[in-house]
Amino acid sequence: MFAENTGEEIDYGIVESDIDAFESDIETFFTQDNVVGCNVTAPFKGRAYELSKNNCNAEAKTAEAVNTLFMKDGTLLGYTTDGMGLVADLHSQVGSLVGHTVLLLGAGGATRGVVEPLLGAKVKGLYINNRTEIKAQAIVDAIKSPVFECVSKNDLTSLQPDIVINCTSASLTGDLPQVSTSVFKRCSLAYDMVYGKGETRFMEFAKTHGAKKVSDGFGMLVEQAAAAFTIWTGKKPDTAKVIEALRPR
Ligand code: ATR
Repeated sequence: MFAENTGEEIDYGIVESDIDAFESDIETFFTQDNVVGCNVTAPFKGRAYELSKNNCNAEAKTAEAVNTLFMKDGTLLGYTTDGMGLVADLHSQVGSLVGHTVLLLGAGGATRGVVEPLLGAKVKGLYINNRTEIKAQAIVDAIKSPVFECVSKNDLTSLQPDIVINCTSASLTGDLPQVSTSVFKRCSLAYDMVYGKGETRFMEFAKTHGAKKVSDGFGMLVEQAAAAFTIWTGKKPDTAKVIEALRPR
């Protein structure tokens, strides 16, 4: 759909890699004529990072994971595009993030991939809370930004961010991260990174407690794919059309 939309002629298919042969499969893949890049999915994102870690974007370094490889002038470049995808979807839902305060819930791989792009979008404050606090603190310590801080469960009661993003994997099992209901009081958007048919438990919970708008992560899914497409082709597809056409109903 992106190719159709931008007038590119591409071939995008699936290659199944052997668990013992990912590195040589990638090498072989890039020896083919006209190959520019590929997406990489679980369980190979860490190994794709190892292959490209001298030439990857900041968020890939923080996450130690790469979902997009691009061969440019003989150099293998690595990217994680999840953060770009999230920021693009937030921009289309709430406009500029400049001056906004954002709370991230969770401190796993999903969180690690989005911190730098959110800071790059010039948020005024970026807060992180995790069930296991030490993991959230470790991300803050690794990134070192004056506007990025860890908040404990107790401190959440005095935090009223503009945007709350659920980066935990809790929704996948129908669970909710333990979070003070007051964080939704002045919240203009509560965002759950997962998606499916209908609203997640987190979205329902946020709405009940005051979030003005709620969203799942389907837009982020399309936008992270679009970011990879742009890396490979230099062209920006109209993602709104694709989100509308593919959204699970
Ligand atoms: P991912 O790569 O999807 O981020 P992960 O690295 O396993 O997956 O991280 C999962 C995150 O969701 C962690 O922050 C985890 O909290 P802990 O660090 O305390 O384990 C969080 N998480 C998962 N289930 C949760 C739940 N029921 N309540 C709160 N947090 C949860």
